[in-house]
Amino acid sequence: MNLFNVYPLFNINPVKAQGSFLWDENGQQYLDFYGGHAVISIGHNHPHYVERLKNQLEKISFYSNSVENKIQQELAEKLGLLSGYEDYSLFLCNSGAEANENALKLASFHNGKKKVVYFSEAFHGRTSAAVAVTDNTKIVAPVNESENFIKCEFNNSEELEKIFAENQNEISAVIVEGIQGVGGINLLTEDFILKIEKLCKENNSILILDEVQSGYGRSGKFFAHQEFDIKPDLITVAKGMGNGFPIGGVLISPKFEASYGLLGTTFGGNHLACVAGLAVLEVIEKENLIQNSEKIGAYIEEKIKHFPHIKNIKRRGLMIGIELDQACADVRKALLFEHFIFTGNANDKNVLRILPALNISEKESDLFINALEKTLKSIDAKKEIIEFK
Ligand SMILES: Cc1ncc(COP(=O)(O)O)c(C=O)c1O
Repeated sequence: MNLFNVYPLFNINPVKAQGSFLWDENGQQYLDFYGGHAVISIGHNHPHYVERLKNQLEKISFYSNSVENKIQQELAEKLGLLSGYEDYSLFLCNSGAEANENALKLASFHNGKKKVVYFSEAFHGRTSAAVAVTDNTKIVAPVNESENFIKCEFNNSEELEKIFAENQNEISAVIVEGIQGVGGINLLTEDFILKIEKLCKENNSILILDEVQSGYGRSGKFFAHQEFDIKPDLITVAKGMGNGFPIGGVLISPKFEASYGLLGTTFGGNHLACVAGLAVLEVIEKENLIQNSEKIGAYIEEKIKHFPHIKNIKRRGLMIGIELDQACADVRKALLFEHFIFTGNANDKNVLRILPALNISEKESDLFINALEKTLKSIDAKKEIIEFK
């Protein structure tokens, strides 16, 4: 049997990883400035994470959600404490899409309504309702399509007001990313997020904050939306939550009432996943990684902002979009194949997406900074050679 060929792959097979470095099967070292799509929050194979998981493996890895698992409660308490959402409750699942799927369901169960507003350039996952609120027609199958999902331009308050006015009392939820990741590191304006919250409150609609990519300290706050004076009804998390172990969750405001069977999953909240989640939070807290995220993010921005071909830097903490004056594909390839540094791309072809581990150091960042400078300068050098010829 072959693999279903859905990923265009770089010809690199990492076999070992430590901190912010990876090694391929030939022993070539790579600097990880992408964290495997914002997943690696505390660095690869952090010793505390490895020890916690090894210990748990020797005890019990899994049993069903029909019996108690006290590690789930421990994880919920720690997450509540570190995120500032102690009065919320937690539903555990396995991925970001699943977290959003459950959040959209919860909203609809709660207010009995069907319509959902989402934004241009949004990405919320690839499953049923999650993909329907994702702004990419290429990944929405006919089975996912429905008139219940209404697209609004990102950061356009007037359009949002119009949508609410035209769909009086029918909007179940508005779903928005803390910072748009896949779209190209697009930041919410304060006016817009305040408007979303206000309209949701006035219309008995639920505000869902997707913090799958922007959460867990990446933005320099526990959640990116905490830059603003708002309180979402539901917050979804995954990616950095498990540092590579599949885990996701929905943080649920006290206004929602749980009932048996309302939500459920086989694997969600299993022993290993919860221990991975706890280890991540313990490291984030002990090593002050939220502060480090802003400190190193600002350091990188300061060092690169005058480099040629950089048009704009969109950044919170270590969620960085470097917007070039041209498509970034060749720069990304040069970083990977000439300097052995992983970076990411975005829907916006000009944006280089940078999402390193939150414990990356200045010294490690310098490797990226120097390589980026050389790569960007070489664009002009190559152009001069071509013009000269
Ligand atoms: C903001 C956001 N939400 C949801 C998802 C989907 O997460 P997953 O791939 O774990 O289903 C992603 C993945 O990139 C994401 O960036």
